Amino acid sequence: MTGTREEIDAAALLRIAVDAASEAGRLLASWRGDLRPEVIDTKSSPTDVVTEMDRRSEALITGRIRGVRPGDTVLGEEGGQTAGTAVPDRNGAGHGDGSAAPSRVRWVVDPLDGTVNYLYGLPDWAVSIAAEVDGTVVAGVVEVPRFGETFTAVAGQGAWLHRGGAATALRCTSGVTLGQALVGTGFGYASGRRQVQGEVIAVLLPHVRDIRRGGSAAVDLCSVAAGRMDAFFERGLNHWDYAAGGLIAREAGAMVGGLAGRAESTSMAVAAGPELYQQLDNFLNRLNPERDAQRSQEREALADRADG
Ligand code: IPD
Ligand code: CA
Ligand code: CA
Repeated sequence: MTGTREEIDAAALLRIAVDAASEAGRLLASWRGDLRPEVIDTKSSPTDVVTEMDRRSEALITGRIRGVRPGDTVLGEEGGQTAGTAVPDRNGAGHGDGSAAPSRVRWVVDPLDGTVNYLYGLPDWAVSIAAEVDGTVVAGVVEVPRFGETFTAVAGQGAWLHRGGAATALRCTSGVTLGQALVGTGFGYASGRRQVQGEVIAVLLPHVRDIRRGGSAAVDLCSVAAGRMDAFFERGLNHWDYAAGGLIAREAGAMVGGLAGRAESTSMAVAAGPELYQQLDNFLNRLNPERDAQRSQEREALADRADG
């Protein structure tokens, strides 16, 4: 066995993710609708809030994953990245020769995507869990409790919507021109970035059917997968926002990436059927939607000069 690597069953990882997401979804949905969960912390800006429920959901998910795969790494929005305890010979968590090794599996968890919607009692929020093997997403689930919908994908095996005991294969729209496209997007929490995002939307809006801002990037990506929106793009997402939804959109036939041939990243994520993707890519690229990075560098340089 020395030197051989154990095959990791992506479908088995998905089952773990689906169980954890469904339990976390029930926990989140159990919050009484007439009460707002308390905001217990803020992150990147005063409007980037954390509720007790974000933390409880992540603790539940991490606990479930650790219960069955203690060796794996978990990257969670609230808890950051934590390594597992190296366990030999356990589904990819060892070399296969009895020696302990870092696991090849990392779980990427957004315990509550769409926290602001959740806080206000709006239905678009989700639990998003992806499993990566050697850095590639191989399985993902987006659980949307208020709609009773579970979106899943395993790399190479298509994307599925599970609702009311039935499973439907997902397909994104095709043959839609930019002028006819319903395009989803989202806005970051930093005001400088939002200003540029608003400028970009102001130029794009007259050239598309309409714009949607749903409030959960994970749900938006699943909406592209399901043909409920033709395209989605957002600057400045975190990996946990798009890891699972990106795989689901891709498995439904969408192209998922960044601008100008780059991979999707925390700088830019775009998803659409291939022809529409090209049109949106060309349009957005000309607008330089990532320019807020330059602006904030300029602001920092000015502040440094003022300090010095
Ligand atoms: C946010 C949502 C939102 C997107 C933001 C994300 P959170 O995630 O996905 O739709 O526009 O960029 O940060 O904070 O609700 O987990
Ligand atoms: Ca999120
Ligand atoms: Ca979140």
